[in-house]
Amino acid sequence: MNPTCKKRLGAIRLETMKVVAQEEIAPAIFELVLEGEMVEAMRAGQFLHLRVPDDAHLLRRPISISSIDKVKKQCHLIYRIEGAGTAIFSTLSQGDTLDVMGPQGNGFDLSDLDEQNQVLLVGGGIGVPPLLEVAKELHARGVKVVTVLGFATKDAVILETELAQCGQVFVTTDDGSYGIKGNVSVVIKDLDSQFDAVYSCGAPGMMKYINQTFYDHPRAYLSLESRMACGMGACYACVLKVPESETVSQRVCEDGPVFRTGTVVL
Ligand SMILES: Cc1cc2nc3c(=O)[nH]c(=O)nc-3n(C[C@H](O)[C@H](O)[C@H](O)COP(=O)(O)OP(=O)(O)OC[C@H]3O[C@@H](n4cnc5c(N)ncnc54)[C@H](O)[C@@H]3O)c2cc1C
Ligand code: FES
Repeated sequence: MNPTCKKRLGAIRLETMKVVAQEEIAPAIFELVLEGEMVEAMRAGQFLHLRVPDDAHLLRRPISISSIDKVKKQCHLIYRIEGAGTAIFSTLSQGDTLDVMGPQGNGFDLSDLDEQNQVLLVGGGIGVPPLLEVAKELHARGVKVVTVLGFATKDAVILETELAQCGQVFVTTDDGSYGIKGNVSVVIKDLDSQFDAVYSCGAPGMMKYINQTFYDHPRAYLSLESRMACGMGACYACVLKVPESETVSQRVCEDGPVFRTGTVVL
């Protein structure tokens, strides 16, 4: 076995990645930087399935890739402490290692967009992180990026500065403690631009709103979450129904987590 303990089990890639840094960027929200060969294969919108480094938690935890640096072979993950697994991740520090499966899922389709195009990014709360890599890659190609972010309150605001380096950013908070009071729909309904593509990730209510608003848009994408077990398409713990079908379903881990609007039942 090579020094990074990289193994390929069929289509599944496992690697012991190095923790380069970890920082609490907002209350209970952490940014973890990992380094390893797996970074080479990562795309915006994919996720990593992380083994909790103790003996009590058998199931891996899925966390989205927030940004990718292929030169340094590093990726950034941003997660909120929800329970025991994410609490244990938050204790990791530089020099520790993490057993990682991935990159999993399909990722966002960023093809055929250039300086002629304009895209809308919509993120809510801890759903904002996977949109950062989308913004960085499209901005580097000259695509005009407009981002609308929604948070519960001022303390929860993340990645505003980083996204503002890629284009115009609107921030809303439910309680009005920062930015525009209300949710992302308050901003989106007043945008009069036509967008060539829409990329979104957030809580179920926001995803339903984006799905309805851009239902027939040819390039509007939702990054969805569900409770996962295997994270590799085998157990069907994460399925969503397809409109007008009783028999066809989609696995969030393998067929997603990114779906076109109008293609799954929310
Ligand atoms: C594709 C995908 C990408 C994700 N990306 C991120 C990310 O970038 N940052 C981040 O903070 N979180 C992300 N999540 C959610 C994250 O996986 C869960 O918060 C985490 O697994 C909780 O583990 P835990 O052991 O801390 O909590 P647990 O003890 O397992 O659960 C604590 C609470 O969190 C809820 N929960 C657990 N798993 C999920 C889930 N998959 N979706 C919704 N609620 C859940 C439980 O119902 C429970 O209420 C993602 C989930 C998916 C499916
Ligand atoms: S978590 Fe097993 S199929 Fe998706």
